[in-house]
Amino acid sequence: MERLVAAVLAAGVLQVLLATTDDHYLLSRIAFGSCANQSAPQPIWDAINKFDPQVFIWLGDNIYGDIRRPFNFLGKERTIGPWKNAPRFIPSSSSEMLSRYNSAKNVPGYLRLRAKAKVVGTWDDHDYGLNDAGKELSAKTTNQRLLLDFLDEPQDSPRRKQAGVYTSYTFGPPGKQVKIILLDTRYHRDPLSSDGSVLGDSQWSWLGKELRGPPSAITIIGSSIQVISNLSGTTGPLFYMESWGHFPKERDRLFKLINDSKKRDGVFFISGDVHFGEITRYDCAAGYPLYDITSSGLTQAVEKVLPSPLRFIVRFLAWFTPSTMRVKNQNCRYRSCTYGEPNFGAIQIDWDASPVNLKIQVRDINGLPVTGVDISLSELQAWNRTIKAGQDQRHCTLEVELPWIVRYRLAILVYSVLACKQFLMLLDNRTGEYVLVASCFGRTNLCSDISLPGVPQKMQD
Ligand SMILES: *[C@@H]1O[C@H](CO)[C@@H](O)[C@H](O)[C@H]1NC(C)=O
Ligand SMILES: *[C@@H]1O[C@H](CO)[C@@H](O)[C@H](O)[C@H]1NC(C)=O
Ligand SMILES: *[C@@H]1O[C@H](CO)[C@@H](O)[C@H](O)[C@H]1NC(C)=O
Ligand SMILES: *[C@@H]1O[C@H](CO)[C@@H](O)[C@H](O)[C@H]1NC(C)=O
Ligand SMILES: *[C@@H]1O[C@H](CO)[C@@H](O)[C@H](O)[C@H]1NC(C)=O
Repeated sequence: MERLVAAVLAAGVLQVLLATTDDHYLLSRIAFGSCANQSAPQPIWDAINKFDPQVFIWLGDNIYGDIRRPFNFLGKERTIGPWKNAPRFIPSSSSEMLSRYNSAKNVPGYLRLRAKAKVVGTWDDHDYGLNDAGKELSAKTTNQRLLLDFLDEPQDSPRRKQAGVYTSYTFGPPGKQVKIILLDTRYHRDPLSSDGSVLGDSQWSWLGKELRGPPSAITIIGSSIQVISNLSGTTGPLFYMESWGHFPKERDRLFKLINDSKKRDGVFFISGDVHFGEITRYDCAAGYPLYDITSSGLTQAVEKVLPSPLRFIVRFLAWFTPSTMRVKNQNCRYRSCTYGEPNFGAIQIDWDASPVNLKIQVRDINGLPVTGVDISLSELQAWNRTIKAGQDQRHCTLEVELPWIVRYRLAILVYSVLACKQFLMLLDNRTGEYVLVASCFGRTNLCSDISLPGVPQKMQD
């Protein structure tokens, strides 16, 4: 009996230790990912396991919990178009959510990862319960429990009692600590077009304390939605993507908080959500470049919207859409430096290098890098900033500050193609002569440009 009590006590002490003090091993390999369909094959775990991370971070859409209804243009229930009368997504029951989490938790490759790495995470919209949802979602408290169960959060964790799933971890011995802050961009988020709050008051004051707290060599902030890239600025009015860019005041508040926490250099973001991978940076928010490494998704990928022979079109459009924040270099697989097939994020920290070096990559299903950056930790330090105009401040122009002809060139292209096609059909119907087709392309510059420049680098692959 006494031995049993001692064992129970020891287990209790151990659990408290595990829950309150953080892990002291040197952290040098971190993987992260987002957007995993629990019903689809997930072969990417093999590549993640081969990378052998000590920590894996879920950045949301860890399952697809809501119900997606068919794309209906016509009919009684229309889910798309200006005459849409029914929602495209609806929440599912909590038992259905649970069963989807169970599928996700038992994917063989993920089981192997869980056995050897520490798994942490936050959520995005589809695992929160509904596409693009914010604070209004009534199932949020139940779904919070389901996510925390999925992540094996201890029963007595404070994270089970707070409103929202935000949290932080610190790994490593003093001087070589890595702090991982995971934000909740759902639980308190105001409606999308409100320019209201993303994090809500309680999370903001928590985040302030986290950033002003004891320094760490490296601080990784995980946000389900992109922080730096504001894709909507260049894809609107065709389509809009959720991001911090939708909430300019909140985004500035986040940057100001980082710029003001002087003791804490070495901050960068990781994000998911968009179904492609890319690396972006913003050079004019803090005293040093703020990077955002986006990996999305583990199964969901933008190129899958088209059959394989047509996927070069997606790559072309990715290249054609202007981006002021994207980091472009020779190491990218495609000329656009985006990657629209399944991918994960891989962070390697070389603590022995002087100064400490970070190798951050987005990797494909075979574990090969598709875009990446090598950053010396000294580059991420405000006190060492030597402002070299034109070099250190390449990424300072906001997407919305681009000249309109550049900013809207995707929309102009798409509308021109549509218009040109109609013109083409009209002429074709009138005369039946294909000569007129050529004349259409000849006359409309935007159309004739399409086939000339920028054929994606590896379109033949
Ligand atoms: C998930 O995968 C299943 C099986 O392939 C498919 O039927 C379903 O539509 C997918 N869901 C999403 C959100 O992609
Ligand atoms: C992002 O783009 C949207 C849509 O164009 C715009 O309303 C918003 O102000 C932009 N945000 C930033 C930070 O530039
Ligand atoms: C960052 O803080 C410094 C003061 O420490 C200030 O001079 C600078 O303007 C701030 N940068 C931004 C972008 O707010
Ligand atoms: C400042 O950063 C540069 C790299 O951007 C590095 O070469 C240099 O050694 C750093 N200076 C100090 C004092 O760490
Ligand atoms: C051209 O003719 C086809 C079939 O003959 C018809 O379906 C189409 O609507 C016509 N296009 C225009 C623009 O009139």
